[in-house]
Amino acid sequence: MKLISFDARHSGINITPDMQAEAARANRLLHTGEGAGNDFLGWVNLPSSITDEHMAEIQRVANRLRSKAEVVVCIGIGGSYLGAKAVLEAMTNSFESLKKRHDNPTVVFAGENISEDYTHELMEALKDYSIAAIVISKSGTTTEPAIAFRLIKAEIEKRYGKAEAAERIVAITDKARGALKTLATQEGYDTFIIEDNVGGRYSVLSPVGLLPLAVAGVDVNAFVEGARDMERLTGEATPIEENPAAQYAIVRNELYKAGKKIEILGSYEPKLQYIAEWWKQLYGESEGKELKGIFPASVTLTADLHSMGQYIQEGERTLFETIISVKNSKYEVKVEADEANLDGLNFLTGKRLSQINKMAELGVRLAHIDGGVPNLVIEIERIDERTIGQLLYFFEKGCGISGYILGVNPFDQPGVEAYKKNMFALLDKPGYEEESKALKARLQ
Ligand code: PA5
Repeated sequence: MKLISFDARHSGINITPDMQAEAARANRLLHTGEGAGNDFLGWVNLPSSITDEHMAEIQRVANRLRSKAEVVVCIGIGGSYLGAKAVLEAMTNSFESLKKRHDNPTVVFAGENISEDYTHELMEALKDYSIAAIVISKSGTTTEPAIAFRLIKAEIEKRYGKAEAAERIVAITDKARGALKTLATQEGYDTFIIEDNVGGRYSVLSPVGLLPLAVAGVDVNAFVEGARDMERLTGEATPIEENPAAQYAIVRNELYKAGKKIEILGSYEPKLQYIAEWWKQLYGESEGKELKGIFPASVTLTADLHSMGQYIQEGERTLFETIISVKNSKYEVKVEADEANLDGLNFLTGKRLSQINKMAELGVRLAHIDGGVPNLVIEIERIDERTIGQLLYFFEKGCGISGYILGVNPFDQPGVEAYKKNMFALLDKPGYEEESKALKARLQ
């Protein structure tokens, strides 16, 4: 079942047989494992390799946390955070927090920043609720989540004692290495493994994404099913012209070559805002290296037409736009007649908001095309688990193909280390004495 389609008619790019051949070569490399970063290709066949037993185990542990806690704190950063956050936002009622009754525990996030105020406010808010935690770190050594976990672990142990804490804390980490693995074993936490060959930003279909989502009551089986659909639709057996991820990868690379250095991912559904955040990490970290790569940016529409709209329409012409267009809304809301008609909007009487939103989308598309902003469209049937599963795998496959077309290793992130080294030196971590002196002198 295909719930999403890619449309490049308004991109200004005519896809040639050579481009298709190049994309087919890149896709093949992902399947044969002969390209750069080939020890990180576990995500390619991840959806189809998930067993029923694995899903049952995730649900079993999720159910235990659901039964024990009103609030589950999910601790992680980057690829160990954004996938769960993105899918959760997409699947949750926008006003869940205002509801008097909650059918699911509230999943909140920590460890994706080091803000003292955020952390204080979180700890204060948790006081009124029963709590549990999921701590996620593939390396097990990332500073931000490690700091947050220290605090949350101490709070859980203080409240419930060490034995019960082991029932309320679940770790998701590397098979063998890292401090978190050692700690989880020592404390007797249930532990899920992130396979060595699945990198952080490609891990949303591993327990990294699935466990927090199952805790929050998201239908993770449908989500995985959607990813499996897209794994098939973008597999080697599909002709490259019919592979939507490959077509997306081709067009964005051609636009990049033509001077379009910035891709803006936009949507007219605010619930998809964090899908864009997840996408920015996926593409930014995968392609931004060796002094090349498209800069991924995002907008939520129509809100951002009243802020970024001016720049997109008339600013520097280095942009192209990719719109996630949602075909069907879940609910129906119509504009009502108003006798006084002071706002002059009676011409909209009886129209659904989705119709008005669609006309805004089509109007903006044409205006941006006229303004020199090529437009790509990813149309999705609706916002539900299966469709979002298809969408995320589509982006993952598109990213792998695109990175290989660009000629980079889409599975490493050497640049991420630079800030860590400086931060440790400035914090006087033992072993960083020389760097510490040099950096502090520069900051005088
Ligand atoms: O994509 C990546 O590999 C990174 O964004 C990581 O997910 C992020 O740095 C967190 O790493 P870890 O899970 O080891 O704590």
